[in-house]
Amino acid sequence: MRVAVLGAAGGIGQPLALLLKKGLPAGSELALYDVNPVVPGVAADLSHIPTGVKVSGYGAEQLEDALQGCDIVVIPAGVPRKPGMTRDDLFNTNAGIVRNLVAAGAKACPNACYAIITNPVNSTVPIAAETLKQAGVYNARKVFGVSTLDVIRSQTFVGELKGVAPEDIQVNVVGGHSGETIIPLLSQLGLDITDDEAEKLTPRIQNAGTEVVEAKAGGGSATLSMADAGARFTLNLVAALSGNGSVQCTYIAVDGQPTEYLALPVRLGKNGVEEVLDPGEFSAYERKIFDAMLPSLRANIEKGIAFVRDN
Ligand code: LMR
Repeated sequence: MRVAVLGAAGGIGQPLALLLKKGLPAGSELALYDVNPVVPGVAADLSHIPTGVKVSGYGAEQLEDALQGCDIVVIPAGVPRKPGMTRDDLFNTNAGIVRNLVAAGAKACPNACYAIITNPVNSTVPIAAETLKQAGVYNARKVFGVSTLDVIRSQTFVGELKGVAPEDIQVNVVGGHSGETIIPLLSQLGLDITDDEAEKLTPRIQNAGTEVVEAKAGGGSATLSMADAGARFTLNLVAALSGNGSVQCTYIAVDGQPTEYLALPVRLGKNGVEEVLDPGEFSAYERKIFDAMLPSLRANIEKGIAFVRDN
């Protein structure tokens, strides 16, 4: 399995590359690409860790070499938020970055899976999909927005509230990956979460990214927890492509849903998404906030599609 990390020298890219160096199966290759000239050093640094994963670094002019033969392309490249910004405020800078990286992937590794971390994910996933469509190599089963951070935050916060080990909590988080579009289905947990608790915990989960942005006070957004989320998703995808499938929540293209893209639980398998699963029952509160966020999720999606169409 060959996995590329595009933006590998950045705040998310470096810890993500570390987790992949330690977590990928022996015999895998990890290709680290970045426009930052420090990337060969990041690759050299990681290569000294004794695992069976071969690491190589690729600089600004070597994008196609990095992507050659890749099975999975993970994209954390781009700029992070500063306090006061929404994820959508990153669109003007990050949209073009994602489009250019995916366009290169369409040529160098047309059958690869894409795991998109770059914000605004609600728009960058449609951008990736439209770019692949233009190149004639789109496979809806292989383009994912990484929304795993919303899942692990939900596990953590629910675990703290209820005194349960967070890793034992299985929670579906549906919708999108920004503010009000993040819908954790806490009512399904069977942990006696009261309406009052759910109505306090849900905004905490929705605003957890902003909590980190504010705490970093201009120094960026979540990098370590996002790297952990990105690595969890990537390693589950690697396992699934190798025959050990699992169910994960991820933001993907969907049919027969109220929006064209939606985070839902899916069964991952040898071909990427094997099956989009029913997310289960919603409480009245979850249904209300899900329905209320649909216009803004639709607008995020349309903005991404229009960007590729018009540029
Ligand atoms: C997060 O959820 O932490 C990331 O999407 C980064 C951000 O800007 O909040």
